[in-house]
Amino acid sequence: MGAPNTNSPLSGKHLMITAGPTREAIDPVRYLSNHSSGKMGYALAQAALALGAKVTLVSGPVTLSAPRGCQLIKVSSAQQMQDAVMQHVQACDVFIGCAAVADFRVAEQAEQKLKKQQDEDEMILRLVKNPDILASVAALENPPFTLGFAAETQNVADYAKGKLARKRLNMIAANDVSDHKIGFNSEHNALTLFWNGGELALPVNDKLTLAHQLLGVVAQQLEK
Ligand code: CTP
Ligand code: CA
Repeated sequence: MGAPNTNSPLSGKHLMITAGPTREAIDPVRYLSNHSSGKMGYALAQAALALGAKVTLVSGPVTLSAPRGCQLIKVSSAQQMQDAVMQHVQACDVFIGCAAVADFRVAEQAEQKLKKQQDEDEMILRLVKNPDILASVAALENPPFTLGFAAETQNVADYAKGKLARKRLNMIAANDVSDHKIGFNSEHNALTLFWNGGELALPVNDKLTLAHQLLGVVAQQLEK
């Protein structure tokens, strides 16, 4: 371990990273969620610590252990993630939205386990939109440097650049999730970074190596 290295690219910086899926309860025993493993977000936390940063990791339910030295805030739903982020983000220099936040939650959570109705062959769940956590951070009066992820199955660059502009981010990392060998749940990933006036492709690599490369670019942008 030893003394913190003040020459490290992110030394003195406080990063907040969201990671993993969120779970949106239907009733006490059921939920809506997605296949996010949290690996990319946890790799970013590990790399950021190695680069000298202080790290707050706001994580949905995953099976990973948090890297030693980070502040871990465990959440389940998107609303809990939003509350935790908003409570702590003002102190941060960089916000990275790596979580696969559920876009919708169930409009009325049942207090008791839902029962099948004998005379009905279908059931309709009404969903309402969740808050956009990343866009809310970017809309703060003094926002941190904001980096989003865009998981796309088609028109990857266009959709990612659209999110960069619409959410008013500093940078977006586009992720082609139509290739099942990379991305969700895989050990590997490939990203293309877009920011105002630049782009950079980071070809297939293990997620920790990619995290180091990505944070290197973030550190460069922070110096500007
Ligand atoms: N994000 C967020 N809060 C949400 C939805 C998304 O913070 N409610 C963040 C994600 O963590 C990611 C970025 O926004 O960094 C883009 O997420 P993505 O799902 O790709 O985009 P959406 O804006 O949700 O649009 P869509 O799913 O329709 O493509
Ligand atoms: Ca989404």
